[in-house]
Amino acid sequence: MTCAIDVSRVNFRYDEFRIEDVSLQLHVGEQKAVVGQNGSGKTTLFKLIVGLLEPGSGEIFVYDRRVTRDILWEIRQDIGFLFQNPDDQLFAPTVWEDVAFGPTNLGLSQEEVAKRVDWALETVKMSDFIDRPVNEMSHGQAKRVALAGIIAMRPSILILDEPFAGLDFDMVSSMVDIVKELRQEGLSILYTTHNRFFLENWAESVAVMDQGRVIFDGAVSEALSTQSVVDRMGDWAGLRRRMAKARAYG
Ligand SMILES: Nc1ncnc2c1ncn2[C@@H]1O[C@H](COP(=O)(O)OP(=O)(O)O)[C@@H](O)[C@H]1O
Ligand SMILES: [Mg+2]
Repeated sequence: MTCAIDVSRVNFRYDEFRIEDVSLQLHVGEQKAVVGQNGSGKTTLFKLIVGLLEPGSGEIFVYDRRVTRDILWEIRQDIGFLFQNPDDQLFAPTVWEDVAFGPTNLGLSQEEVAKRVDWALETVKMSDFIDRPVNEMSHGQAKRVALAGIIAMRPSILILDEPFAGLDFDMVSSMVDIVKELRQEGLSILYTTHNRFFLENWAESVAVMDQGRVIFDGAVSEALSTQSVVDRMGDWAGLRRRMAKARAYG
C-alpha cells in the first residue's frame, strides 16, 4: 500500500524530552489515531511530520518525498495541520481573511479563493461568522474556523491534534460530521484523541506513544485486546481505576 506519511526511525530532542526511534505509517485513505498520555510526544511528532521541527536523525516521507526544508511549501499543500489550540492558528483580522489566507497563497484567482472560503465555512457551519473578528469567537467556533482555513487549501492529508478537546457535545458532533464528509473525498487522516469513543468508532488503526516512543502501531482491535498497550493509552488507565473504585464502593 502506498504511504501518505512514512515516519522512519526518527529521533528528536528538546532539553528534557526525546522522541526515540519513532516509526509510523499512514496509508493513503487511512484514518489513524495517535494516543498516549499527556506529554508522551504526540504533538511533537506531528510538528516533526509537518516540518515545524526538524528530526535529529531519521527520515519522514510524504508521498515518497523526503520532508526537508527545501520542499516544505510543497508538503504544506498536501497536509492540513490543525493545531491543538486554535489561537496558535488564527491570526487574520476577520474570519473571511483568515480562511482566504491559504488559498490566496496558493496563487488562486480571487474568484476561486472566494468560492473555497464559502465552501469551507459552509462545511464547518460558520458561514454566519464570515465578517466577524477571529478573536471574538468561542473555543469551538475558533477550532472550526481553523479547520475551514485548512480544508480551503484542499489538502489530501489532514493532521488533527485533539480536534475534539474542549468542545461541547453539539460541537463534537458537528466536528464528527465535518470529518466524515471530508473522509468521503478520500482524505488520509491522522489525529490524536483522549476519548476512547473516537478510537473505537473512528480509527482504522492506532499508534500508541509512551515517553517519546511508539510502542504499538496496528489494528485498533489488537491494541485494545493487549493489556500492556491499553495501560499506556493515555488517561484511560486512570479513568478505569476510578471506575473500579467507584464500583467497589457502590
Ligand atoms: N517547545 C518545547 N520546548 C521544550 N520541551 C517541550 C516543548 N514542547 C513540548 N515539550 C515537552 O515535550 C514533551 C512532549 O510534549 P508533547 O509532544 O506536547 O506531548 P503530547 O502532545 O503527547 O501531550 C513534554 O514533556 C513537553 O513538556
Ligand atoms: Mg499534544
